[in-house]
Amino acid sequence: MTINIILLGPPGAGKGTQARKLVEDRGLVQLSTGDMLRAARSSGTEMGKRVAEVMDRGQLVTDEIVIGLIREKLSEGGNGFIFDGFPRTLAQADALGQLLEETGMVLDAVVEMQVDDEALVRRITGRYTCGNCGEVYHDDTKPTKVAGVCDVCGSTDLRRRADDNEHSLKTRLLEYYKKTSPLIGYYYAKGKLAPVDGLADMDRVSDQIAAVLPLSREIATGT
Ligand code: AP5
Repeated sequence: MTINIILLGPPGAGKGTQARKLVEDRGLVQLSTGDMLRAARSSGTEMGKRVAEVMDRGQLVTDEIVIGLIREKLSEGGNGFIFDGFPRTLAQADALGQLLEETGMVLDAVVEMQVDDEALVRRITGRYTCGNCGEVYHDDTKPTKVAGVCDVCGSTDLRRRADDNEHSLKTRLLEYYKKTSPLIGYYYAKGKLAPVDGLADMDRVSDQIAAVLPLSREIATGT
């Protein structure tokens, strides 16, 4: 049996952090449209350059592009997916519904990660990631054990994102409230919404997510 979940929340809510944990603990496949778009921008293609400009301003990339990226990944198959940062508009949510139906997959839950704006600013402005393995860190809440060296893979390629500044973050938050937050009502009406307190510490957030995925726990423990 597969498990398919969406992690829904504003920038810095902890979607990527929790997705990585779910990959480790449950063997699900993380589909982060943000990561896919960052890969597209580093490819240096014309499309990549256009995507980079939009991302750096903090705006949303077109539905057409991100739906195309997700369609490609779903067709590769997998033992359950974590949709991280997708869908972000009602059109994307409708498209995902169709894609899941076409591929015979079911959406199990939409985890809404609730975090207030003040905490989001602190999280985003202190974040850095490993350019090699993607591990996510924070200056105050999760620094590397040895300064400048990734705990997981030992790489010294630690990076800050171009859109992780207060100016772009303001636009990213506005985009979230205007275009993405309507998905809360959309999935509530479908009986899929599971709100969690994203302000809690990382392990506590993971526990809350595990509690809304009882089936996945059974699979993981074989009970
Ligand atoms: P994307 O990469 O998806 O970024 P985002 O949604 O802005 O989310 P973030 O990655 O910034 O945050 P997160 O929630 O993953 O938090 P994290 O775990 O890192 O999108 C980037 C851009 O791509 C968009 O602006 C848009 O342009 C484009 N895009 C992407 N998808 C798109 C789509 N579907 N449609 C159109 N355009 C799209 O945590 C943040 C920090 O907080 C870390 O330092 C972490 O260590 C820390 N932290 C995490 N959890 C906790 C906790 N519980 N307590 C304390 N600290 C914590």
